[in-house]
Amino acid sequence: MSDPHADAQLSKLEILDRKNAEALLGGGRIRIDAQHQKGKLTARERVDLLMDEGSFEEIGKFVMHRSKDFGLDKEYYLGDGVVTGYGTVNGRLVYVFSQDFTVFGGSLSETHAEKIVKIMDLAMKNGAPVIGLNDSGGARIQEGVVSLGGYADIFYKNTLASGVIPQLSAIMGPCAGGAVYSPAITDFILMVENTSYMFVTGPNVVKTVTHENVTSEELGGASTHSAKSGVTHFSCANEVACITHLKQLLSYMPQNCEETPPSLPYEPQGDEMRPALNTIIPENPNQPYDIREVIEGIIDVGSFLEVHQNFAENIVVGFARLGGRSIGIVGNQPAVLAGVLDINASTKAARFVRFCDSFNIPLLVLEDVPGFLPGTDQEWRGIITNGAKLLYAFCEATVPRITVITRKAYGGAYDVMNSKHIGADMNYAWPTAEIAVMGAKGAAEIIFKREIATADDPEAKLAEKVDEYQRKFATPYRAAHRGFVDEVILPAQTRQKLIRAFKMLENKVDVLPRKKHGNIPL
Ligand code: HXC
Repeated sequence: MSDPHADAQLSKLEILDRKNAEALLGGGRIRIDAQHQKGKLTARERVDLLMDEGSFEEIGKFVMHRSKDFGLDKEYYLGDGVVTGYGTVNGRLVYVFSQDFTVFGGSLSETHAEKIVKIMDLAMKNGAPVIGLNDSGGARIQEGVVSLGGYADIFYKNTLASGVIPQLSAIMGPCAGGAVYSPAITDFILMVENTSYMFVTGPNVVKTVTHENVTSEELGGASTHSAKSGVTHFSCANEVACITHLKQLLSYMPQNCEETPPSLPYEPQGDEMRPALNTIIPENPNQPYDIREVIEGIIDVGSFLEVHQNFAENIVVGFARLGGRSIGIVGNQPAVLAGVLDINASTKAARFVRFCDSFNIPLLVLEDVPGFLPGTDQEWRGIITNGAKLLYAFCEATVPRITVITRKAYGGAYDVMNSKHIGADMNYAWPTAEIAVMGAKGAAEIIFKREIATADDPEAKLAEKVDEYQRKFATPYRAAHRGFVDEVILPAQTRQKLIRAFKMLENKVDVLPRKKHGNIPL
């Protein structure tokens, strides 16, 4: 705790040394030990892990709160519960704030908020990402509305910064009440398993209002938010894994919306042919396969960083490198629910597409989709509005966009999944592609209904008509004749074709009509 009388006998230089040492201790040794005993690192240890060695420059180390109520006039800590500043991560400038749970539980005071806003302003003016390491008991209860105002200032800055600079939030402790809305506005959330949680109201309030008995972990732990709600994009085993993930994630992004993502040097790997892809699609069109195998078969070895891995698993999204360049991948996943598009898959992919488009990351779509998921559950919860989000996100994206249809492209889902008609730059299809209004059986049953019903052997007639429809429509060639598909390619050629096509598109310029902003169906 900061002692105003401690400096009486010291020289001016010694006073600075003493204050620096005091600031480094945050809420003191006992609370630091308690933090470690919970399996958590301190705010400063986290910053050290994140930043390149020796690169961190702190801002506002001696800031103190201005409160007088509830005994706060006798309790001051230098820094006021948050470490803020700038430095480099893998050589690139980033701004960081790291909440210090040892000081008033990392709670947010007026001055704590001002420190965060100050580095966000700097980040905006200088075009560099902001990383928030969150570990906080929420609003500083003793400050009342002043603290709430501080949160609102941060929410406002988060929103202004959205789409201008990348904003990443790691949740490394409690995050409750309205405090969750700052991370929610940022681009990506990472949570640490077992030591972090996020909820609007905690288990006690839940019990009072809905009579449910639920633990903090069940209500808002990393496993809940990574699999059930989709609030967090990554669930990390521990804090070190979380910070490693943060750095990896950052490596695919540019510094700001005016720049392109950093590329790695690319050495062509022979002819870039990948023969294993030729046998990946099963003979039986209803048999599943793992779209991740297709992704791995196309991209630079080991470069895939999957986002939202445990949420809406019927669609796979993530970052990768192709010929050294960053791309965002959206792929239907035939191994889960046959790759159907439902509400969660649509919103998951829509948000990812919009992030990539905001930050000039080209998009690759791998399509194998039987359509939208039918049923009252989906209709009543708004598959129409939610599916439209994905459609809107693709329509609006101006980054280079390429689609590869590996197998099914049926119905409305054909249009939605980055079709040529909604602005994709290049569309490829594998010979196994089936591009049609619906599956052959459903189609035959409708258009040959009478013929089948009056046939001597209706079953044989149905089989004959299914076969006829399959041969005519369940191929890529009708679409290729129309130019809706630019080329039918051997799966083995996919990597080579994509490297060339993305290179061809690297200077693409496309502008949307002048407007204030669009009105995405939220
Ligand atoms: C001031 C706080 C605090 C807070 C914790 N502390 N939360 N001080 N304001 N919000 C202090 C404690 O007094 C304690 O001080 C120290 O931090 C550690 O807290 P403990 O309770 O001992 O730790 P732990 O058992 O780990 O529990 C952590 C916790 C709990 C779950 C976060 O402290 C808690 O429930 N806090 C209140 C959470 C809350 O209701 N916040 C307001 C939410 S509403 P000492 O001196 O003992 O070290 C909100 C509105 C935002 O945030 C709206 C924005 C729109």
